[in-house]
Amino acid sequence: MSLQLLSQRLEKIRHDGLYRSLRSVDRTTPQVLVEDRQALLFCSNNYLGLAEHPALAQAAADAALQYGTSSAASRLVSGNQPLHELLETKLAAWKGTETALLFNSGYAANTGIIAALAGRGDIIFSDRLNHASIIDGALLSGSRLIRYPHNDTLALARLLEQHQGDGLRLIVTDGVFSMDGDIAPLQEIADLAEQHTALLMVDDAHAGGVLGQQGRGSVDFCGVAGRVAIQMGTFGKALGSFGAYAACSRLVRDYLINRSRSLIFSTSLPPTVLAASAAAVDLVQTEEGQQLRQRLADNSNLLRSLLQQAGYKVPDGSTPIVPILIGDAATTTRFSTRLLEEGIFVQGIRPPTVPKGTSRLRCTVMASHSPDQIQQAAAAIIRIGRELGVL
Ligand SMILES: Cc1ncc(COP(=O)(O)O)c(C=O)c1O
Repeated sequence: MSLQLLSQRLEKIRHDGLYRSLRSVDRTTPQVLVEDRQALLFCSNNYLGLAEHPALAQAAADAALQYGTSSAASRLVSGNQPLHELLETKLAAWKGTETALLFNSGYAANTGIIAALAGRGDIIFSDRLNHASIIDGALLSGSRLIRYPHNDTLALARLLEQHQGDGLRLIVTDGVFSMDGDIAPLQEIADLAEQHTALLMVDDAHAGGVLGQQGRGSVDFCGVAGRVAIQMGTFGKALGSFGAYAACSRLVRDYLINRSRSLIFSTSLPPTVLAASAAAVDLVQTEEGQQLRQRLADNSNLLRSLLQQAGYKVPDGSTPIVPILIGDAATTTRFSTRLLEEGIFVQGIRPPTVPKGTSRLRCTVMASHSPDQIQQAAAAIIRIGRELGVL
């Protein structure tokens, strides 16, 4: 009976056009094999192309030979190795913070950090379009969760005014919004955090390596360095590796080591991953890193302008996330399928990842795309958009 219930629920997901399945993709380069079809990849977060950079691969291989393949324990047991500490030192220097603390993924970081910092009697103010892992962290924390309208600082100010109290107040926002590609108004949010004595946490998953001086992220890009209590960032996107971190003060780090359950109760990142991440942090600060960011910006601008010229309402912006709003989930899936038939791989993003009625194609650009590949993708998106009556 229980399995039958699951089967009925799955059928409903299918009926609503929200069924998900795993597709096999052989790598993260512009040219990929999706199942058995050659395609151009336009939905990876490998923004700078570092996932296939020889310096990262070499660092991972050397670390495996020197230290083995696992840390084999939580850091509080016997899993705190020299590479963890080296990477945290590099991170803090890059981000300009007192310290940093590693987490096993962005999801583990957000749930672990938020649920550690806030608890019963505390209030979390979260942008309505924040990533699911932030929501999950807030729900786990047992705090009161107040979601404010997307990037609406007037509404946030009103809510902060209305909801005072003795407990901790935490404002959390994505730096770059993962499904829209826009940037949070961090100056205004930092002002509000200071006026209302709230802690500010920024999720920089999509900005680390991409925005700001030496790719330091949205906090640097928006000129609010030193005003954000916790900058969470990930290695699995522009940094071409895996894992995540909080860049923060010594006090916050110490607190998290003592309270964060995803850190305390989980085996720490392995040497291979740590070494690749350290190589990526070094690389994004070099001249090569700067050139990759420039290529990424040029490629993003090219895709945006080709789509806009054809009549798509693509928001302006400086990030590599280029959303094409479709609305209806079934049409979005159809669009994505047709694109793959034409050799362009772009995933459709549907609820619950985005709000109902806002299904979209989330195109992402990489520094490793050639202008010709961007033009091919744009031409297919325009052609199929017309075929499906979306354009
Ligand atoms: C904004 C944001 N935060 C957190 C995460 C989770 O990071 P990770 O993939 O490292 O778990 C993601 C994406 O996956 C994200 O887009």
